[in-house]
Amino acid sequence: MKDQENAFRVAVITSSDSGYRGEREDKSGPAIAEMMQEAGYAVTGITLLPDDRKMLADTMAEICDTGAADLILTTGGTGFSPRDVMPEATLDICERLVPGIPEAMRAYSLTITRRAMLSRAAAGIRKQTLIINMPGSPKAVRECLEYILPALSHGLEILLGRTGNCAR
Ligand code: MTE
Repeated sequence: MKDQENAFRVAVITSSDSGYRGEREDKSGPAIAEMMQEAGYAVTGITLLPDDRKMLADTMAEICDTGAADLILTTGGTGFSPRDVMPEATLDICERLVPGIPEAMRAYSLTITRRAMLSRAAAGIRKQTLIINMPGSPKAVRECLEYILPALSHGLEILLGRTGNCAR
């Protein structure tokens, strides 16, 4: 675990029309925040947004462009509903793609549920911020995070120029 000064900063974004309207409690955003805090990350905030491509893209771009977080973890909006646009919003603003992380999340999640193939989650980099989409349920979020967390810090260290060494 890193000391708080060197901790990676993570912003959490939940994409949910019903959550934004206050009709449903967002349990996935807080689940991400809790897991990331336990893993030694500094959570900068949880933002609840509607399933609106432009709002999602603009919010993520601002976080990246102001350097407000090293990592953005999103939840929701990765499925097949016409309002599910989180991958599109993410790809709208990413400069470089990171296909391996969603591939890994789906590969692991498929060992738990065949429905994992229904998540269209994407990941990419804008400036010095990594963005990773995850599905919308707290269960899915926990499953995805527990699998990617052990490799994540190495990627962030390289992205931030804290290491160039992949020997370990
Ligand atoms: N991945 C994991 N690990 N666990 C899950 O329970 N649910 C799936 C899939 N990925 C699931 C999962 C289901 S049912 C759907 S519809 C898609 O994620 C998309 O979810 P979203 O629309 O909430 O983003």
